[in-house]
Amino acid sequence: MQNSPKRFTITAALPYTNGPVHIGHLAGVYVPADIYSRFQRMQGNDVAFVCGSDEHGVPITIKAKKEGITPQQVVDKYHAIIKQSFQDFGITFDNYSRTTAKIHHDTASDFFKKLYEDGKFIEQTTEQFYDKEANQFLADRFILGTCPKCGFEESYGDQCESCGTSHNATDLINPKSSITGNTPSLKETKHWFLPLDQYEPWLKEWIVKGHKKDWKTNVYGQCKSWIDDGLRPRAVTRDLDWGIPVPVEGADGKVLYVWFDAPIGYISATKEWAEKEGKDWEPYWKDENTKLLHFIGKDNIVFHCIIFPSMLKAEGSYIVPNNVPANEFLNLEGNKISTSKNWAVWLHEYLVDFPNQQDVLRYALTANAPETKDNDFTWSDFQARNNNELVAIFGNFINRVVVLTNKYYEGIIPEPASLSEVDITTLTQLKAYPSVIESSIERYRFREAQAELMNVARLGNKYLADEEPWKKIKTDEERTKTIMFVSLQIASALAVLCEPFLPFTSSKLKNMLCLNEEQNNEESLQWKDVSTKETLISSGHQIGKGELLFSKIEDEQVQQQLDKLEATKKANEVMNASPEPQKDTIQFDDFTKLDMRVGTILEAEKMAKTKKLLILKVDTGIDVRTIVSGIAESFSPEEVIGKKVTVLVNLAPRALRGVESQGMILMTETPDGKLVFLNPDKEGLINGATIS
Ligand code: MF3
Ligand code: ZN
Repeated sequence: MQNSPKRFTITAALPYTNGPVHIGHLAGVYVPADIYSRFQRMQGNDVAFVCGSDEHGVPITIKAKKEGITPQQVVDKYHAIIKQSFQDFGITFDNYSRTTAKIHHDTASDFFKKLYEDGKFIEQTTEQFYDKEANQFLADRFILGTCPKCGFEESYGDQCESCGTSHNATDLINPKSSITGNTPSLKETKHWFLPLDQYEPWLKEWIVKGHKKDWKTNVYGQCKSWIDDGLRPRAVTRDLDWGIPVPVEGADGKVLYVWFDAPIGYISATKEWAEKEGKDWEPYWKDENTKLLHFIGKDNIVFHCIIFPSMLKAEGSYIVPNNVPANEFLNLEGNKISTSKNWAVWLHEYLVDFPNQQDVLRYALTANAPETKDNDFTWSDFQARNNNELVAIFGNFINRVVVLTNKYYEGIIPEPASLSEVDITTLTQLKAYPSVIESSIERYRFREAQAELMNVARLGNKYLADEEPWKKIKTDEERTKTIMFVSLQIASALAVLCEPFLPFTSSKLKNMLCLNEEQNNEESLQWKDVSTKETLISSGHQIGKGELLFSKIEDEQVQQQLDKLEATKKANEVMNASPEPQKDTIQFDDFTKLDMRVGTILEAEKMAKTKKLLILKVDTGIDVRTIVSGIAESFSPEEVIGKKVTVLVNLAPRALRGVESQGMILMTETPDGKLVFLNPDKEGLINGATIS
């Protein structure tokens, strides 16, 4: 049945290393790529699943500048965090590399040199945008302007994030420097261009006329429209100081365009892995029988379907991708996920709030994967997927089987009597699942595949509900043994079939059923065994004690996440709110009427039966007086004792709840609404905050 093993080179988009990774990354790229890779390995196929950090490019230099550190420090920090998150979520890269690695610099340089020497580039001096004030050329994200194709006003120099079009910076309407906001001037500079127009006939043949109709419609449609619009030469070098130096003479101060070097990162990562494993990397990139697959998000389509394949074609010895299963975007609670607005669920934070619940997130993200259109992640859907599906269906089935086996047979699989018609039908249905799931995975329909997996658990639950072993045990012990035997076959099948989707659960379940090689000295169960083997778990085999696979997620946990997002939203609103307009002009004399002094708070106590008020004793230098201040929600009494403050001392006294207040402490507010004493030389205060 099994053909000879096939070779797969599976790549997942190299994440930019200017921030941690969030659920959008996981749902769109890394979980589907991991499901696919695990599945192919389970078929006995030869898989190189590679990824790494994309460490060059303008966003990283912008981040470094903002934080006052070097780009290398930025990428070192996030490379470590990102790599850890992937490992924590069970993403089984064979190698997770990085583009600042020497092997990558060498590989990318050599690639460029080969194309250069073969005369594949056009060398051209053209006018590029230049910021005179910042004293630098404005490549890529250093420039913003209106997209000539869709009219989006904040398109970058190289790509519009709104419509996905990739263009030349000089095509932008109303260009502005993102460093100074200035309108840029033009300055001559020499660059190397890849003449994409020359690859148009080949691309047409390969994608449009070729067999690429089996690509996802969103991917095929985008490619076709770009090719139909006509392709133009694209510069593959930049005037920047962060990146891989252009390895030819007369290119001082120039680096490779990040989108030229990054995809070559897939090749470097494969080389690095092969070196470690003592393998030859070349078949993974040069053998026509290898399936090269790129898992990406939709904003990367043009680079993986048009530009990188043209580069590979120009080089001449490489294969081109067999498929590029790009996903659409995942939103979060109705809004676009945004790193800069902190509108995201960060993977490392998720694990703090939901420790050891990686599979729950993997499951919820796959169930809702943005495969054909943008989709929304909501915490209530996450909770429902867990409680109503993982707990109520999968977990419940396994729990009943394991508990009953331990209760009736001390954990030893019983000998079945003859199988009834229901048993035979159930086992026949079970055997059909591997190929059903397989067919969905092979078409990159992971939601559908995972839904079929859950149907295996449903099959088990229905069987138990219909056969009721807990009742039969009182009247028919032999029949009960058969029912339990059949149920245990389904449980074992689940342990195997869930592995690509729920790897942590799979290993827990195998452990519980003692199906691991070390536990029973038998070869571990394979994917295909589920459809071919008569028994997956034999009579006489001892299983372990039950342990819960999933646990209920409570409303409070969901509320906590929603509160976190609400706080983010509020902070963003305050951050973006325009300051209150200026009040009417006053004369200097008006101002001198105010008598403000520096004072020290000596005593503080809460005013009984109020939420907001503190009664303070303040040394104003003139006297010690009582001031009632509405700051109790921001400070405890202990916190304010000893603090130096600004006091308006000649404000007419006023009784508050029967206590006379003889003055006012000047306060202002941080963006998230916390009162602070007026001390503008303090982090977090923003211009325009009113003093009151
Ligand atoms: N860093 C890019 C992004 O996050 C993806 C790079 S993919 C590669 O959008 F092909 F260039 F590696
Ligand atoms: Zn656009």
